[in-house]
Amino acid sequence: MPIKIAIIGAGLIGPRHAKSVINNPDTELIALVDPMPTGIQTASDLGTNYYPSVSALLSSPHRPDAAIVCTPNQTHVPITKELLSGNVHVLLEKPISNTIETGHSLLSLASSPEYAHLKLLVGHHRRFNPYVRATKSILENGSLGRTIAVNGLWTLYKPDSYFAGNGDWRTSSARGGGVIPINLVHDIDLMHHFFGPITRVHAEGILPQRENPTHDADEGAALTLRFASGVVGSFVVCDATPSSHNFEMGTGENPMIPKVENGSDFYRIFGSAGSLSVPDLTRWSYDNSGEKSWSSPLTVDQIEIPDNAAPFDLQLAHFVDVVRGDAVPSCSGEEGLRALIVCEAVQRAMRTGQPVEIDVDLLAGSKK
Ligand SMILES: NC(=O)c1ccc[n+]([C@@H]2O[C@H](COP(=O)([O-])OP(=O)(O)OC[C@H]3O[C@@H](n4cnc5c(N)ncnc54)[C@H](O)[C@@H]3O)[C@@H](O)[C@H]2O)c1
Repeated sequence: MPIKIAIIGAGLIGPRHAKSVINNPDTELIALVDPMPTGIQTASDLGTNYYPSVSALLSSPHRPDAAIVCTPNQTHVPITKELLSGNVHVLLEKPISNTIETGHSLLSLASSPEYAHLKLLVGHHRRFNPYVRATKSILENGSLGRTIAVNGLWTLYKPDSYFAGNGDWRTSSARGGGVIPINLVHDIDLMHHFFGPITRVHAEGILPQRENPTHDADEGAALTLRFASGVVGSFVVCDATPSSHNFEMGTGENPMIPKVENGSDFYRIFGSAGSLSVPDLTRWSYDNSGEKSWSSPLTVDQIEIPDNAAPFDLQLAHFVDVVRGDAVPSCSGEEGLRALIVCEAVQRAMRTGQPVEIDVDLLAGSKK
């Protein structure tokens, strides 16, 4: 039997998830929930049932087995708790919440015995991106030697329309807006996925380009990162500069953001035996150079991308496996909270001008 899935939130990203659900033979799109009247038309376009609230959905004849939560960040925890309480598995869009406290409260609820049979997956879908999977396997096969350092960029320009109308929550830090919880959180999750937990951050905020009041959300920062593994990193994030150096333009994974061919690398990873740039997957080493020396010519390998499957589709297939008990979540609630904790540390470092230590055991006690 296909898993009946409801989409909660019919804004920018909800309909994209809905299309993955429609295209997957193991899932059925049972309903769309959004309080805005525009949701009625979106539901009709998707050929599904419409409800204005999760409570209306749960008391309807179209109760789902699972739901994908695609609502503004500050609503993630109350909506997910309501769904779990209604016996519904949840794929929750990132970030897990807009505050660490509420993120912890969700993990506590989700790990209590009453809800142990229900699954919670956080939607850090980039883990399923083919460039990310290829990078992960290069790191795991040891061809870079011991990883020493990483350098990253997430820089682009968001238009005014992104912040207008219904999207005005994105202008406000208090409502979970800003480039750090919305975008950097993805990169932080990938840093964790590649190199393990981050234990210390420092951050300097960039010069704001948008008018405040109206905008009080962060526009960017320059960061240093230290990982428990000893790896160190540096990163620039900014959503107010015309630039191609970002995950979306480098990989072409977002249909709204055109892919830029050549010259749009966003990560460089440095190891004892070689270095790698992503997403072009160029590996530099002295493998064929006689002496391992700066005066020898570098060996350049171009690594093939194994496939180009859509990350949202792969994430949904994984969610199906998780719901059926055939897989454990690739990005659990804990991993989602871990990324949020680092984002909060980045924001604190920006405010105080001081490095912020992150306790990797902060998550002890929350299990799911
Ligand atoms: N994984 C990704 O690449 C990715 C990309 C974009 C957005 N997101 C995440 O998805 C979430 C939604 O982002 P968006 O850009 O689609 O936002 P959006 O503002 O475009 O859409 C959010 C929708 O949720 C609806 N909504 C608000 N409260 C609701 C409630 N209680 N019940 C049901 N619907 C409700 C709004 O009416 C709106 O239509 C955010 O958490 C964002 O961080 C993830």
